[in-house]
Amino acid sequence: MTVLVTGGAGYIGSHTVRQLRERGTHVVVLDTLELGYREALLGAELVVGDIADIALVTQLCRTYGVRQVVHFAAYKNVGESMLQPAKYWLNNVTGTVHLAEALLAAGVDQIVFSSSCSVYGTPEVVPVTEAAVVQPESVYAESKATTERVLGWYGATHGLRAVSLRYFNAAGASFDSQIGEDWAHSQNLVPVAMKAALGVRPPLQVFGNDYPTHDGTCIRDYIHVDDLADAHLRALDHLAAGKGTAAFNVGTGVGSSVLDVISTTERLSGRKVPHEFVARRAGDPVSTFADPSRAFEVLGWQARYGLEEIIATAWQWHSTHPDGYVSR
Ligand SMILES: NC(=O)c1ccc[n+]([C@@H]2O[C@H](COP(=O)([O-])OP(=O)(O)OC[C@H]3O[C@@H](n4cnc5c(N)ncnc54)[C@H](O)[C@@H]3O)[C@@H](O)[C@H]2O)c1
Repeated sequence: MTVLVTGGAGYIGSHTVRQLRERGTHVVVLDTLELGYREALLGAELVVGDIADIALVTQLCRTYGVRQVVHFAAYKNVGESMLQPAKYWLNNVTGTVHLAEALLAAGVDQIVFSSSCSVYGTPEVVPVTEAAVVQPESVYAESKATTERVLGWYGATHGLRAVSLRYFNAAGASFDSQIGEDWAHSQNLVPVAMKAALGVRPPLQVFGNDYPTHDGTCIRDYIHVDDLADAHLRALDHLAAGKGTAAFNVGTGVGSSVLDVISTTERLSGRKVPHEFVARRAGDPVSTFADPSRAFEVLGWQARYGLEEIIATAWQWHSTHPDGYVSR
């Protein structure tokens, strides 16, 4: 039994591939390597190619005896999605339609999909449950919400079973610093804070310090990438047990502010994180963090790590790999 991991050479994919292999699951990765790295696979089998290539994916599933898929492959830059929406509709949505067609042609009917808490837009109530209204506020978020629905329709029409994991803010790196996030591609707060601490970027801009939070800065739910990876293994087990389509929040349930991230980074790295306060950014929710209780009740999953482990592992990774993965 083989699990196909699309986008497995990327940040979250590579941590999931590693955990799957550590528990003895045979894995094959499909990745264009546009934004991923062969080195991140630590020797896992890789097919370089595009999820939109129906003939390739069908053949790959048949050759490797694929039974389940974890589908990470997508673009994820919110700002870019507003400037180049077609890029996101084509890769994230149409790409998944092609992938689903190939899976069905090869008789594969189980998929775990990388969704995002951004499908909730600015949530009316926190912590956010899966019952919250889906109201995307960017093309990227809409591409995730639409893909969830597309997969749901493949369930209704063809029996595809899909678990959508709505990730909160993925962060951190492996505890042995072998794999981590490539900060060249990431706009996320944790790698940006690391860059600022290492002095390889100008001061970090904090967008707004007059929000109604404990220190005036926005609050997010940072989830360690190894905890996220673990959620995928449990979602695959859920599907293997014959369970059906569902969506789960994957977060810690704890909110941390921008200043919490900065002060934890300063404490654990022993360095200053130069930062400056600038005006609020349009569309930033004040506070969003998960109610992850459904994932615990149904998948038996809960986060083991918090901000300390996230910052400690991220610092260890970035300070020892200032150029990320060396080859492209
Ligand atoms: N990082 C986060 O905080 C976060 C939060 C919510 C959701 N997500 C979602 O999780 C998934 C993985 O995120 P990540 O942070 O690991 O991103 P990433 O960019 O590191 O990884 C994505 C991988 O997919 C590959 N890829 C892209 N399009 C492809 C295609 N058409 N065919 C084959 N490979 C392709 C890229 O080369 C890359 O290796 C994405 O779908 C993203 O939208 C991420």
